[in-house]
Amino acid sequence: MPQPKIKGLVLSGGSGTRLRPITYTSAKQLVPIANKPILFYGLESIAKSGVKEVGVIVGDTREEVKEALGDGSRFGLEITYIEQEKPLGLAHCVLIARDFLADDDFVMYLGDNFILKGVEEFIESFRQRETGVSAQILLAKVPDPHRFGVAELDHSGKVIRLVEKPKIPPSDLALVGVYLFDKTIHEAVRSIKPSARGELEITDAIDWLISSNYRVNSQVVDGYWKDLGEPEALLDGNRLALEMIEPHIVGEVDEYSKVDGRVEVGIGAKIIRSIIRGPAIIGPDAVIEDSFIGPYTAIGPGCVVERSEVEYSIILNESSISDIVRMEGSIVGKRARVAQRATLPSATRLVIGDNSRVEINKN
Ligand code: G1P
Repeated sequence: MPQPKIKGLVLSGGSGTRLRPITYTSAKQLVPIANKPILFYGLESIAKSGVKEVGVIVGDTREEVKEALGDGSRFGLEITYIEQEKPLGLAHCVLIARDFLADDDFVMYLGDNFILKGVEEFIESFRQRETGVSAQILLAKVPDPHRFGVAELDHSGKVIRLVEKPKIPPSDLALVGVYLFDKTIHEAVRSIKPSARGELEITDAIDWLISSNYRVNSQVVDGYWKDLGEPEALLDGNRLALEMIEPHIVGEVDEYSKVDGRVEVGIGAKIIRSIIRGPAIIGPDAVIEDSFIGPYTAIGPGCVVERSEVEYSIILNESSISDIVRMEGSIVGKRARVAQRATLPSATRLVIGDNSRVEINKN
């Protein structure tokens, strides 16, 4: 029997305010973890599950997203771009994708969500669903449910209500940013009103399905999930993504250097008199000289790290770190320079972008 067709709807708009200044020059979905844009993990997993046609919702960062994803063929997908003029909410994205989606089932995926196990099993279970099930949601236990859509369950574990960012959360089960829908969702998104933040919430649309007696299945994520909208979450996502890389050394490692554990060294990269302790990734054409790169560090393409120690950090393309001992828990944007200064006055000198954050150790 042919499999019923499932399309993809991937959301890649939004402004990424909590990741500023990185997101002044990059769409939040394209910020890399383990040197690969967050969004690529989702698209690869969607492709693996057998989905072919994907609509990508784009907003202000449309040019960059289009350039990174192209026509989708690099993922084995056919991408259709759908323009969202203003960020009017996730349910609004479904509204404007009506023509693309037609009456097909679809997986909706928020491009800043990172699910370590991928979404293949989740999509497959929707393919195998019982007749009469209209939607399927994923939930995850979180310590701060008021930041998310939250599910209220009855004593049998059935979802009876969903609320978006409640002040007093009815449970600690947050809605993960991956949803499966059949065509009934189109009626739901037309039936709801904008929320207090002025957006059409997908949470309200699913709640409408539940209160209109449509069947909505739920499942709790086993394993890691995060929305990578903030620096700490991004570093944590980077850690997890690095734990999955395969050791692979293509660049040059000189005889005075030592590379331990799960480490990828890209083409054209040079490791000179340095120690790299994995999990870590050194991008193509990066140079690491007289330095220590500690676990959970991603060094982007073309970076230079000299006489420094860097650990649990993300350094983006073509930046340089000189004489810094030591840097930890840091995110450095593209083409930035972090260096020690030997000349007087012995003061800190900064030229940093808007909304940056600098924490100088008091010692
Ligand atoms: C959105 C949804 C929320 C969901 C979250 C997951 O929140 O509205 O229900 O829990 O994504 O990432 P937003 O990122 O718009 O704050």
